[in-house]
Amino acid sequence: MKKKIFSGVQPTGNLHLGNYLGAIKNFVELNNDSENECVFCVVDLHAITVAQDPKQLKNNIYETVATFIASGIDPQKSIIFNQSKVSAHSEAAWILSCVARMGWLNRMTQFKEKAGKDKEKASIGLYSYPVLMAADILLYDATHVPVGDDQKQHLELCRDIAQKFNNDFKVDNFFISPEPLIQKEFSRIMSLKDGTKKMSKSELSDLSRINLTDEKDQIINKIKKAKTDPLPLPSNIDELNKRPEAKNLIGIYSSLTESTLEKTVEKFSEKNFSDFKENLSQVLVEKIVPISSEIKKLLGEKKYLDEVLADGCKKAETFSSKKIKKIHEIVGF
Ligand code: TYM
Repeated sequence: MKKKIFSGVQPTGNLHLGNYLGAIKNFVELNNDSENECVFCVVDLHAITVAQDPKQLKNNIYETVATFIASGIDPQKSIIFNQSKVSAHSEAAWILSCVARMGWLNRMTQFKEKAGKDKEKASIGLYSYPVLMAADILLYDATHVPVGDDQKQHLELCRDIAQKFNNDFKVDNFFISPEPLIQKEFSRIMSLKDGTKKMSKSELSDLSRINLTDEKDQIINKIKKAKTDPLPLPSNIDELNKRPEAKNLIGIYSSLTESTLEKTVEKFSEKNFSDFKENLSQVLVEKIVPISSEIKKLLGEKKYLDEVLADGCKKAETFSSKKIKKIHEIVGF
């Protein structure tokens, strides 16, 4: 079946192994299947839900596009564009925010995590962020959305918004409820410093994550310093599930080698962490260093990156402007 794919990544710097294994790797596979129509968006409107330095934001937009291409997304096959340049996104987000319910948004765990204790001081954008995400997806009639495990709840909200709009305005199937595509084997990459916390761009310690721009020595050093526990590696999945740091490292290895957790556990059963870490560093270096070098090369070719974005925006505009026009008619504008 022909799939229409949409996904987005925030240009907030420090794109890391979690972004790669949770999402971008899947984007590349979907891009490579000629049956699919793929749209990959640099979601700069989402980025400003927390304060950004304008100069840095601009650089991060380039870096995100460079990361997409360096990872293997072909701009000739997939649409790559930045969200702020296609005005239908902001417009649809407003209309859909009149459909979404406060009660639904109040349940979003990511807002609670990001806003922390002082939620009165969080921006309204941070609160309504999942509505903008729904607008992104629904504008392109996306059937499938590849994301990491942390975005699952936002996708469910998107489906609720789509259904309520269709029901309220009696337009069956106008918005398509998208299916999430989440890595099956290991969908949440955790911090290298704490196996119970998600690997994240905003974590202060750079040792907590492998950045996609890291060099060989940095990768080896970070894996050497990654937190472990005092026991040898587990011999079965039940034991693995009780040991967060071991589970994370085994999961990363499995994802990178396209293997299952079971097979990796079997391979390294009862081995000590130092042997395993050497193997893990090697597969990481093989995968990440070529991407890192290509990102740096592409960042020296801003004109090319601008062309990719301009071309992508034009194509995204063609599609989304038709959809927003129909939304206007349905709503009664
Ligand atoms: P963002 O920019 O936080 O993350 C980009 C993608 O990386 C995944 N991810 C992870 N996967 C596994 N382990 C991790 N530690 C990890 N950290 C991040 C995320 O799940 C995501 O898929 N709201 C989205 C961006 C967005 C979007 C959209 C996505 C905006 N509009 C429409 C899909 C469709 C976000 O903030 O992703």
